[in-house]
Amino acid sequence: MTDILAVEGISKSFGALKAIRGLSFSLARNEVLGIAGPNGSGKSTLFNILTKVPFGPDSGEIRIDGEAVTRLGPRHIVEKGLVRSFQTETDFESITVLENVLVSMPDADFRTGAAAAKARAREILDDFQLLDQQDRIASEITVYDRKKLMIATALACRPKVLLLDEPAAGLSRPEVAQMIELIRRINADGVSIIVIEHIISLLVSVSNRLMVLNFGELLAEGAPQDVIRDQRVIEAYLGPAAAHV
Ligand SMILES: Nc1ncnc2c1ncn2[C@@H]1O[C@H](COP(=O)(O)OP(=O)(O)OP(=O)(O)O)[C@@H](O)[C@H]1O
Ligand SMILES: [Mg+2]
Repeated sequence: MTDILAVEGISKSFGALKAIRGLSFSLARNEVLGIAGPNGSGKSTLFNILTKVPFGPDSGEIRIDGEAVTRLGPRHIVEKGLVRSFQTETDFESITVLENVLVSMPDADFRTGAAAAKARAREILDDFQLLDQQDRIASEITVYDRKKLMIATALACRPKVLLLDEPAAGLSRPEVAQMIELIRRINADGVSIIVIEHIISLLVSVSNRLMVLNFGELLAEGAPQDVIRDQRVIEAYLGPAAAHV
């Protein structure tokens, strides 16, 4: 079966800095792929390139469900089913939680009327245990609820592939456990997922496969339990001395 996402030899430079260097990988249907890597290794840049927000790759090819999308703009990428969340909260702070979901929904959802669209938005919020917060201004809800809201707005776009950039950053331990359950539930509903995290326990819990980036290149890839024990990975995170203790 065709991979839901295929990336071949993509690169991105900022002046002399090569942030992504000829990276190739694929995502199978219904797979959860974890991405780890030290700060500045190019993880968020990879999501930027894939979704064209704000830029695409300098070179290389991207295919969604077998279709070349390398030259499409951000809006069309979303329509093809590739949707991301951001590392920091990017909800619209001054409107309500419900309105945040409504403005993220595709036009097609409004064809049957605003009431039907609202009903769907409330269903999504209910799924995320955010329904009781629907009328609150987004800036007033907790960090955890804002993280959930950001994912809810991404799901409102009906993605085939969801890209999560550090969904658990800044969360408490119990909240991380809830986020793990949430990611599993989204995946069980048929959404393929790529998740970037520094919290390795989350990556090991949710990922079928784990990739580690270093200086914009693939350092290691495979079963999460194997990858986290890889000497090259330990060295990249902790320095050469750590690999030999
Ligand atoms: N728009 C930009 N202009 C210039 N340099 C950039 C830009 N975006 C990213 N970079 C640089 O590219 C490199 C990769 O950054 P990126 O944000 O992808 O790292 P990351 O792996 O997501 O790190 P973190 O774990 O800290 O979020 C860094 O050196 C960063 O400073
Ligand atoms: Mg990042």
